[in-house]
Amino acid sequence: MTWFKQLKFVENPLDIRPSTILIGLDEEEERLKNHIQKGEVCFINGLTGSGKTSLLKKIQEAMKDHEFIYLDAHDLPKNFNLEDELKSKKSIFDKITFKEWPKKPPVIIIDEFQETDRNLVLKIRSKWENPIQKRIKSIIFAQISHHLHNVTDSFKERIGNRTITLSPLDSENLKRMLSARLLKRKRSYADRFADEALNMLIYSSGGNPRRFLEQADLVFDFHYQRFKDINPIIKEGYKINHYAVKEILELNGINCEGFKAKTDVKKKSTGDTFETYFTENEKKVLNFLIQKGPSTYSQIALGIKIKKAMVKRIVQGLKKKNGVKLEGRTDQGYTWNVSPHAKRMTVKI
Ligand SMILES: Nc1ncnc2c1ncn2[C@@H]1O[C@H](COP(=O)(O)OP(=O)(O)O)[C@@H](O)[C@H]1O
Ligand SMILES: [Mg+2]
Repeated sequence: MTWFKQLKFVENPLDIRPSTILIGLDEEEERLKNHIQKGEVCFINGLTGSGKTSLLKKIQEAMKDHEFIYLDAHDLPKNFNLEDELKSKKSIFDKITFKEWPKKPPVIIIDEFQETDRNLVLKIRSKWENPIQKRIKSIIFAQISHHLHNVTDSFKERIGNRTITLSPLDSENLKRMLSARLLKRKRSYADRFADEALNMLIYSSGGNPRRFLEQADLVFDFHYQRFKDINPIIKEGYKINHYAVKEILELNGINCEGFKAKTDVKKKSTGDTFETYFTENEKKVLNFLIQKGPSTYSQIALGIKIKKAMVKRIVQGLKKKNGVKLEGRTDQGYTWNVSPHAKRMTVKI
């Protein structure tokens, strides 16, 4: 049994293998199709998990009127032969008319391009460039880095601005992606995450779709492993909070220290007491204001026997801590008073 079988999914909906259900890449897809239609070279780059292979898969499905040769340079067969591969794309008509090459030249896609042999790149290029014997319609290649090492400068020039970079997804798109993946009977298990829990996942994944899927998978898997039959996620309305997400990610070596939940910030300031939250001098000023009401810098200085310049500094510090508020203005200058926030804290003690 697995978490997703328990939730009645046949396969893992958060699987990280390439999938053609893409979100937020419409513009990139259109640009890519346009380059192919025009018979150009196009270079796609983006971090691992940014959707390169998925996008390449999607355009092959979408452009049915084109023949594609998809190569993964990372595991190209030892005996790979470009000419044989191109010839294998002959149509029935090409065959019965004894054509040596397909009449409609195929589009060649090279994924993990950084691993491609320079000689193969040269061969592919010459089969695309030769105007009389154009054997390749268009060349699309993808890799992680935006630096190209295995091509000549003149080839780089031919690529020009036909480069597509897949950037991290924004939080809206990541949420849409999770919702779509976890859809079951018109409802989505994505709603099991509290808002801040989702924000934490978005933060810890850095907007990378693959990492986002992996980390959401860790959370579901953890709940299933720990609770089995009494997994609370099964229950409608159950919410996973961001403390749980943090704990699970940290158990898996993923650090989310930098994440600040909005609710945490609030808690911290109300959790502190008047005694611990303010310094001795700040407390002197506040106690004075509590007794005397709105006062100017000079009045406070006189009252607590601290120099005016020092009082100014203390009050500015208190302003940042939301301990005082500006009350009004008199001939003697501004008057300050205790903020409602600080007043609430005094009630507690
Ligand atoms: N824009 C996106 N929308 C939805 N899913 C995405 C998106 N980008 C990537 N993914 C998903 O992330 C995973 C990794 O994508 P993949 O295409 O293998 O990335 P890459 O080839 O760049 O490493 C796949 O499961 C893919 O479906
Ligand atoms: Mg890939």
